[in-house]
Amino acid sequence: MTDFDTPITRRGTGSLKWDRRPDLDPLWVADMDFTSPPEVTNALTQRVNHGVFGYAVPHQSLVDTLLGYLQNRIGVTSSEEQIVHLGGLVPALSLATKAFASPGDALLTCTPVYPPFLGVHNDGNLELQSVDHLDNDGAWIMDWDALEQSVTPKSKLFILSNPQNPLGRVFTKEEMIQLGEFCQRHDLVLISDEIHCDLILDEDATPHFSALNLPDELRERTVTLLAPSKTYNIAGLGYAFAVIPNDSLRRKFTTAKGHILPEINCLAYYAAEAAYRHGEPWRQDLLAYLRTNRDLLTKKITEGLPGARVPNIEATYLAWIDCKALSVDQPIEKAEEAGLFLSDGAFFGHKRCLRVNFGTQTARLENALELLVTALRS
Ligand SMILES: Cc1ncc(COP(=O)(O)O)c(C=O)c1O
Repeated sequence: MTDFDTPITRRGTGSLKWDRRPDLDPLWVADMDFTSPPEVTNALTQRVNHGVFGYAVPHQSLVDTLLGYLQNRIGVTSSEEQIVHLGGLVPALSLATKAFASPGDALLTCTPVYPPFLGVHNDGNLELQSVDHLDNDGAWIMDWDALEQSVTPKSKLFILSNPQNPLGRVFTKEEMIQLGEFCQRHDLVLISDEIHCDLILDEDATPHFSALNLPDELRERTVTLLAPSKTYNIAGLGYAFAVIPNDSLRRKFTTAKGHILPEINCLAYYAAEAAYRHGEPWRQDLLAYLRTNRDLLTKKITEGLPGARVPNIEATYLAWIDCKALSVDQPIEKAEEAGLFLSDGAFFGHKRCLRVNFGTQTARLENALELLVTALRS
């Protein structure tokens, strides 16, 4: 078993998570307090030892690894031409607003959601149309009626987080097909951000259904965004990739890319390859550890804070805590007073909610949850 229990000092390492507010205990931004799989570190060390860091291209064994990943884990046969390598996934969301819409058009998404989904419309001068997910007894679902009411002829894009950050939801095949048909009916391009798809906590119970698994005519209007960064904790290296099966969409996307994006880091390619090629045993250990943390968090919050709502967390290491029924106006301030740095739900489109990152040592999580429960009770 991989040791995820031993704390690792991250303060003073230029860490966004730990060094932004050194006065607080951080459980906010989506990176984990674990070292990456040893194979990833070894691949990086080997590349660093070469000592020359000129411009890089995606080397053939990386491309083969990505195609193998798409085949074996996602279940689609893809080709090298369909892949667009990127230095991160958020820039792809931004590019999509320029590639598939014109200023004055609109972008549709569902909330609560990862904050850049609520900001990238500005990059393309688009209108934002957002629809709340419905809390269906802990499984947050699409509000199809509200979506039909919100979509207009100006709508050109739907941005989806699947699995959903911050709700931890894994959308089913049926929901994905319904969404694909909705996009087809309203002539929308579906941008499916699947960065968390290898963090499904019980893959037998809630298997991932990628936009790439949609029937052909629906898949033709999709852009699927994938990355090893969340799963293998290598977000700081900057690597993601888009799979765009349709030639015309792919041309529009790469044209929008222009000369804006920097070259991809020569180390990132090697880390990505090692993660996908060798990281599976480590990933299985990680999922087991995260399941324990998920269960601990759910128990502590539901028992300690009657009225607070935690979704059924099917994926990610992020927990959404809806505090609207508690007698606390500003839960984020209470958390801060207790010494905790959490994510404020307001940035995800819902006030009086918190997001907790449980990708950390269980003992540290337990301590933080106790502080949080006491703070929100008082
Ligand atoms: C849904 C989602 N998309 C994208 C990102 C960030 O991607 P990148 O760091 O590759 O820009 C995150 C990070 O938390 C995320 O949760």
